[in-house]
Amino acid sequence: MNQVDYLRISLIDRCNFRCQYCMPEGAELDYILKQQLLTDEELLTLIEEVFIPVGFTRFRLTGGEPLLRPRVVELVGAIASLPQTQDLSMTTNGFLLAPMAQNLYDAGLRRINISLDSLDPDTFDQIIGNHGRGRWEQVWDGIQVAHHVGFDPLKLNVVVIPGVNDGEIIDLAALTIDKQWHVRFIEFMPIGNADLFGSSGWIASEDIRQNIRQRWGLTESQVRGNGPADVFQIPGAKGTLGFISQMSECFCDRCNRMRLSADGWLRPCLLNENGQIDLKTALRHGVSTAQLREEVRVLLTIKPEINFKQRDPGNTKGVYTRTMSQIGG
Ligand code: GTP
Ligand code: 5AD
Ligand code: SF4
Repeated sequence: MNQVDYLRISLIDRCNFRCQYCMPEGAELDYILKQQLLTDEELLTLIEEVFIPVGFTRFRLTGGEPLLRPRVVELVGAIASLPQTQDLSMTTNGFLLAPMAQNLYDAGLRRINISLDSLDPDTFDQIIGNHGRGRWEQVWDGIQVAHHVGFDPLKLNVVVIPGVNDGEIIDLAALTIDKQWHVRFIEFMPIGNADLFGSSGWIASEDIRQNIRQRWGLTESQVRGNGPADVFQIPGAKGTLGFISQMSECFCDRCNRMRLSADGWLRPCLLNENGQIDLKTALRHGVSTAQLREEVRVLLTIKPEINFKQRDPGNTKGVYTRTMSQIGG
């Protein structure tokens, strides 16, 4: 059985983008009210007194957009400075990153994954929901600053949407040749925007690899990470190419993670919520952290039976309406 020691912590469900693949167009999401969010103190109590004692040592901060969380730099510092923290990372859309990158690094964050679905500002605007001009440039600036500050590995996440950005696969892959950047192609999942998924479908990682292989060749490679990406490299390139293939191959069997939502629910799987625990309400009702540790230990033992595959064997057609921003990336 896999060791489950990687916790993805959603700091906030709000986002300053409305990526087409994440959020249904025009829909109003039910945002978590401020008083329902875990406070910094509650989050740190859970990490120190519940998650670390039961074996979690690797943490990723996600959202929504985690940089929208007030005092995120201080939170990073507090988690990074725990002696048991072996790895701390963040997944961000990069929009607010440029002015925060140095502070995040100084607080102890060393690696970061940034979404970059297109190199074309117009396509980018279309994907993120037309929030006005200059967004692509601001994200690109964030990536450059993160690179100069020293984040390593620096990964760029691309959700491949047929007919939208699949024509840019070669250009995006080429970013890894001269720079030590790690570009990851993610198969579009039927989460969030059912209409778009229904009309566009998804492209299998192997087809993308084939495309890149024909151009440059491709060798197997490695990069530091806790996620399910299969890693390859263009021969001689400085960076790597990752493929996250949750549609064409099921990686539930090697799942090593749980998710903590911004309002304090511990969820054993991205899509299957059976067994989830409301840690925030328990804490606020005075349940001891010793008791919560026991509950999390039980959830860890039953986790192999609670996964996407079990819920929906071989599913590639079912559509899940909660968005990644609500689930926590
Ligand atoms: P590394 O530690 O750098 O390997 O990060 P990661 O790949 O775990 O993190 P990231 O937040 O960058 O995740 C990239 C994408 O992988 C997500 O946006 C999802 O599309 C997918 N993903 C992450 N976790 C899961 C999971 O538990 N199940 C499935 N099906 N997909 C996941
Ligand atoms: N399919 C695949 N990945 C998705 N993400 C959001 N929605 C989807 C989806 N439907 C990813 C984004 C980002 C993270 C927050 O979740 O690429 O990296
Ligand atoms: Fe886009 Fe991530 Fe925000 Fe969803 S949470 S809209 S994927 S930036």
